[in-house]
Amino acid sequence: MKNTTSEPATSASQSTQPINNQEKILTGDRATGALHLGHFVGSLQQRMQLQHQFAQTILVADMQGLTDNGHNPKKVSSNILNVVADYLAVGIDPLKTTICLQSALPALAELTMYYANLVSIARLERNPTVKTEINSKSFGRSIPAGFLTYPISQAADITAFRATLVPVGEDQLPMLEQTNEIVRRLNTIAQQDILLECKPLLSKVSRLPSVDGKSKMSKSMGNTIMLGSSQKDISKAVKSMYTDANHLRVSDPGQVAGNVVFTYLDAFHQDEDYIADLKAHYSAGGLGDGTVKKILEECLQDLLAPIRVRRATLTSDPSQLIAILKQGTERSQDETNDVLAQVKNAFGLNLF
Ligand code: TRP
Repeated sequence: MKNTTSEPATSASQSTQPINNQEKILTGDRATGALHLGHFVGSLQQRMQLQHQFAQTILVADMQGLTDNGHNPKKVSSNILNVVADYLAVGIDPLKTTICLQSALPALAELTMYYANLVSIARLERNPTVKTEINSKSFGRSIPAGFLTYPISQAADITAFRATLVPVGEDQLPMLEQTNEIVRRLNTIAQQDILLECKPLLSKVSRLPSVDGKSKMSKSMGNTIMLGSSQKDISKAVKSMYTDANHLRVSDPGQVAGNVVFTYLDAFHQDEDYIADLKAHYSAGGLGDGTVKKILEECLQDLLAPIRVRRATLTSDPSQLIAILKQGTERSQDETNDVLAQVKNAFGLNLF
C-alpha cells in the first residue's frame, strides 16, 4: 500500500513553508460517525507519518459534532469511541499522539466564549465553508447559534494547544483564517504575542469520491467504504462502483477520467506503473470493468482486513478505549488551562 508505513512526513506535506520539528500539530474530527476510506487517504495516513516527527494532538470534536445534532445527540455520543477505535486500528499510536475529548476540556468552551467577543456575526456568515453547509442543510434563520459560531470554537481548539500546524482539507482553510484573525486581535489586546498563528498542512490527496461518484461520502447514504466494513460490504461496494457509463462492451475504449474505480486505484494501489498500464489498456479498449474492479477489490481487502481485525478487538473492550481517551485528555488539561489563564489575563479578568 502507498504511504501506510512510518516514513518521514515530507512526502505527505504540501505546505509552502518549511516544516521544522518544533511545530505543534493539532487535528480533529467531528464525532458524528465511524471513519471511512476518505478519512484514511485524506488525513489518517498523514497523521500516522507526522506522529513520528512532531508533537501531535488529535481532538475528538464531540461538541462540534453537536452543533448540527443538538436534537439527535446520540449520533455524537455513540460515535466517540468508534472514532477512537478507528484511530488506533489504523495505527495511530497513543504513546506518540495525544488523543483527547473536546467536551472534557472545559478551557475550550471558556475560550470560545471569550473569542466570541472578537468576531462579528457578519464575519461568521461570510465563512465560505459554513455558508455552504448552511445552504446544504437548509437551516435558514433556524440555524443553531452553535453551528454559526463553530469556527470560533475551532479557533479555541487550535490556540488552546498552541498548535502551529493544522493538517486539513481545503474546506477547513476558512477556519484557520478566522483563527488567525482572532489570534491577531487577542494579541493586540494583550499587547504581546500570547497566542500563535497557525498554518495549514494540506493533504496531497484530494477528496476521495463516493462509490457512486455523485455525492459526498456519507455513511448514511451508503455510498462509502467504512474502515470497519466487512469483507462482503467491501465486495458489494466495489461491484457497485461508478465506472464509465458508455463503456458497454469489453472491447470498447473506456474513459479513465471520472471513473471512480481508477480514482480509488490511484489512491490505494501501491504499484503506480501497473496502474498506468491498466489505464492505457482500459482507454484503448479490451479491458472490462469487472477485471479492473477485481484488482481494486483485492487491494482494498488487503488494506482493510488487518484494520477490521484490530478494530473488532478494540471495540470488544470499550474500557480500554475510554482509558486511552481519558489519559490523553488529562494530559491536555494543564496546557489548555494555561492558555485560558493568559487569555483571561489579557482581558484583565484575573482578580483571583
Ligand atoms: N472541523 C473539523 C471537521 O469538520 C473538526 C475539528 C474540530 C478540527 N476542531 C478542530 C480540525 C481543530 C482541526 C483542528 O472534522
